[in-house]
Amino acid sequence: MNIIRWTKMARARNCSKPVIWIWLISALTFYALFLMVTRNSTEWSISNAEQRSRLYHKMEKDLEEHGAAFLKQGETTQSLTLSDLFTLKDGVVTPVLKAANPPVRANVLYLKPEYSVPIAEAVRAVFSPHFDKAIWLQNSSLYHFSMFHASHHITAVPASEAQIEAEANAVRAVSETICPIKISLDRVVLTSTGVLVGCWQVDSGTDPVTIRQKLRNALPHAPAKQLYDAAMLHTSFARLLGHPSSWPEEANRVSELEFLHELVTRLNNKIHGTKATVSELWNVEEYDILALALNGRMKVRKFQLGCSKV
Ligand SMILES: *[C@@H]1O[C@H](CO)[C@@H](O)[C@H](O)[C@H]1NC(C)=O
Repeated sequence: MNIIRWTKMARARNCSKPVIWIWLISALTFYALFLMVTRNSTEWSISNAEQRSRLYHKMEKDLEEHGAAFLKQGETTQSLTLSDLFTLKDGVVTPVLKAANPPVRANVLYLKPEYSVPIAEAVRAVFSPHFDKAIWLQNSSLYHFSMFHASHHITAVPASEAQIEAEANAVRAVSETICPIKISLDRVVLTSTGVLVGCWQVDSGTDPVTIRQKLRNALPHAPAKQLYDAAMLHTSFARLLGHPSSWPEEANRVSELEFLHELVTRLNNKIHGTKATVSELWNVEEYDILALALNGRMKVRKFQLGCSKV
């Protein structure tokens, strides 16, 4: 009886050696795989830069897929028809300003005139000759990248003076943790709604995804649904309001849409690759709808990006 038990135990002990080895090898293999997965995960999920490229590509295709809706009374990205936004006053295109109630509270990165003026000049040189009155050129002193809204026209979040002041202070605190961003103009696209948009890539500095996340944390009452994709970094340059007035002779053979594409290509050839450094975050109360875009009434608080690393 004792002997039988002893041999059983011995057999069990002999058996357990390989089991331990198999278990150990499995564990090591699992651990190695785990390390590989975690190390590669940044490559597996798409990067912010890749996300931007895909978005910009989609925006570029928008005009082909939807046609030039602005020639048939389009809507802007902010759901306003362009014809509602502008009027001709003594032959001059003039924005129709409408009070925003409550005011829109936007946080935007600011593009300084040393960068915006040459871009604005290129836009004017390429487009103005062909769009007599049917173009609105954005004021080059107000070129900006929309980041995050504490309140917008779709979801209004009313706030008291004191709350607005507290929001501004929270945004100032965020600005101190953001590093100046070196960017380059990836491409210019014309949307089907007639907005000429500059789409930028980030070369260094705090990524827009991180900036938006920081602003979201700092502004907990902000609308959950924001207006733009978190990775996007764009500036509006101009709005086309109607048909091109004059076509160059060689363009007579091409369609209107092809001509628009041609103009965008010309502009891209001039300014694609433009480099800039962004170092200001603006907290803007817009008292008129699209005040930043249309020279409306607004109150601006300007914050320098405080992180010294460039
Ligand atoms: C452009 O914006 C600046 C700054 O707000 C302003 O001083 C200037 O008058 C604007 N220009 C036009 C043409 O509205």
